[in-house]
Amino acid sequence: MRVRKAVIPAAGLGTRMLPITKSMPKEMLPVVDRPVIHYVVEEAIKAGIDDILIITGKGKRAIEDYFDRSFELEYYLREKGKLGELREIEEIGEMVDIYYVRQKRPLGLGDAILHAEKHVNGEPFAVLLGDDIIVSQKPGIAQLIEVAERKNAPVIGVETVPWDLVGRYGIIAGEEVEDDLYKIRDLVEKPSRKEAPSNVAIIGRYVLPPEIFDVLKDVPPGKGVEVQLTDALKLLLPKSEMFAKRINGRRYDIGSKAGFIIANVELSISREDLRNQVLQHIEKLLREIRYG
Ligand code: G1P
Repeated sequence: MRVRKAVIPAAGLGTRMLPITKSMPKEMLPVVDRPVIHYVVEEAIKAGIDDILIITGKGKRAIEDYFDRSFELEYYLREKGKLGELREIEEIGEMVDIYYVRQKRPLGLGDAILHAEKHVNGEPFAVLLGDDIIVSQKPGIAQLIEVAERKNAPVIGVETVPWDLVGRYGIIAGEEVEDDLYKIRDLVEKPSRKEAPSNVAIIGRYVLPPEIFDVLKDVPPGKGVEVQLTDALKLLLPKSEMFAKRINGRRYDIGSKAGFIIANVELSISREDLRNQVLQHIEKLLREIRYG
């Protein structure tokens, strides 16, 4: 098995981030000075993916514009001698081959993935959700691809979450067969705390086989009356061994307001050009809070 293609679903309405997402795709929310989806595309490229399909929907045109060349802006920057900025803008336009397909109705993540069937064309493929940014030595999705290729099986990225958050995620149950690697026995989408078989949660990274498309066509709408990828994976389970890999690295849940703010703080501190100013401000804030 060799994974070459990636699918990035970006058709969701982003209701958890309203009101900003009323007129702006959640994938374009800025983390420091680039949109969330930039980090996700970069992760895929670093993992050796050379073909990316983004599933868009209504109101998502800004995503296509972002990854397109912008000759007007490039001309302006060249004229002004802003060569650093020019290089950066040109690089974004040349990152990788990106294709787009539109999901016309918001019927859920499973339905969005189904729109990739033609493009994926019978190959195993990676899925990266824009709700998660993963900062790690080895790209998050590359860690899954390594296992998928070795085991010749689908692999899902997971992380242990606090028990009171299990209802926000797909949850897996399984046996740890190697360090940080589970053989999956069951999957449940957004269970209540009582129903949850564990607190090992699916984060937005998957390596899937093309067989998932046939399952997705049959799976009935689940949680939120949406076609759920987790439900399709559960149906695939009797036919295929499936693994869950605990991803090594720091994950930011951009789909929640607190996670989005934390990502901005931490990623700005990791940037040399911003670190001192941001840290000094945080220290000042903390002093003020402590001493009134
Ligand atoms: C989706 C999946 C869920 C997974 C989550 C990770 O949910 O359905 O299984 O745990 O992404 O971010 P969503 O956040 O789109 O509701």
